[in-house]
Amino acid sequence: MGNRDKLYFGTNTKMTKTIADTENFLKETSRLTADLPAESIELFVIPSYTTLDRAKAVLLEASSPIRLGAQNMCWEETGQFTGEISPIMLKEVGAEIIEIGHSERRHVFGEKDIEEGLKVKSAAGHGFIPLLCVGETKEQKDQGIANETLAIQLKIGLSSITGEQAKNLWVAYEPVWAIGVSGIPATVEYAQEKHHYIRSILIDLFGEAIGSDIPVLYGGSINNSNAEGYIVMPDIDGLFVGRSAWDASNFNTLVRAVIPLFNARKKQA
Ligand code: PGA
Repeated sequence: MGNRDKLYFGTNTKMTKTIADTENFLKETSRLTADLPAESIELFVIPSYTTLDRAKAVLLEASSPIRLGAQNMCWEETGQFTGEISPIMLKEVGAEIIEIGHSERRHVFGEKDIEEGLKVKSAAGHGFIPLLCVGETKEQKDQGIANETLAIQLKIGLSSITGEQAKNLWVAYEPVWAIGVSGIPATVEYAQEKHHYIRSILIDLFGEAIGSDIPVLYGGSINNSNAEGYIVMPDIDGLFVGRSAWDASNFNTLVRAVIPLFNARKKQA
């Protein structure tokens, strides 16, 4: 089974859940999704650093296949980097995915493509799944340079990993203007067009066999009324949800809504 035969569905809980909140959320989410086939559906949750240790314990207790990720990571293993968290530390607490270059990291905290590239390289080198997030701002979209922006983010962000490491890479397309409380969700046609373009860059970078098998997820104001539209699109391999998936019951509702559509699309392909 290729990586893109699976459906990807997960959430980054940003800075919204305490340890107790995360425990409750994961207990409930793992219980509600326990019957979903783990071999064809990749569920993941990316909570705050401080919750990871307990989060891992909860998932182990529930024998849940939900993968755990970290929202950021320093590329160095150890040293004088006040306020940073290293790959060794994230391994220690059981993170499997490292989210890199989320819009808020880039635009609130000023991270640059070159830093995202160092993080992707380090995450891949430490055996994590790097989840590189890319997306253009509203200004870049309006200036007609969305594709150029995506190409730069991908080419710099992925410049230091090997084809072999790219087999373990996930990418998320999250247009900046679509994310968060004032975000406007991308139309499904626009999202599909950008995913198609991202796919072409991944193939340029890693060749047809590897580039065409890297999952690319859509994120940005996904909700119960628009989720299904994205998943029927041929280049959208999964959904990376914020607010709408922070409630366990809605996480479950959303993923169950898209599974039959994803399966039907795969049958047709
Ligand atoms: P949102 O967040 O779904 O709340 O817009 C998406 C994201 O930031 O990944």
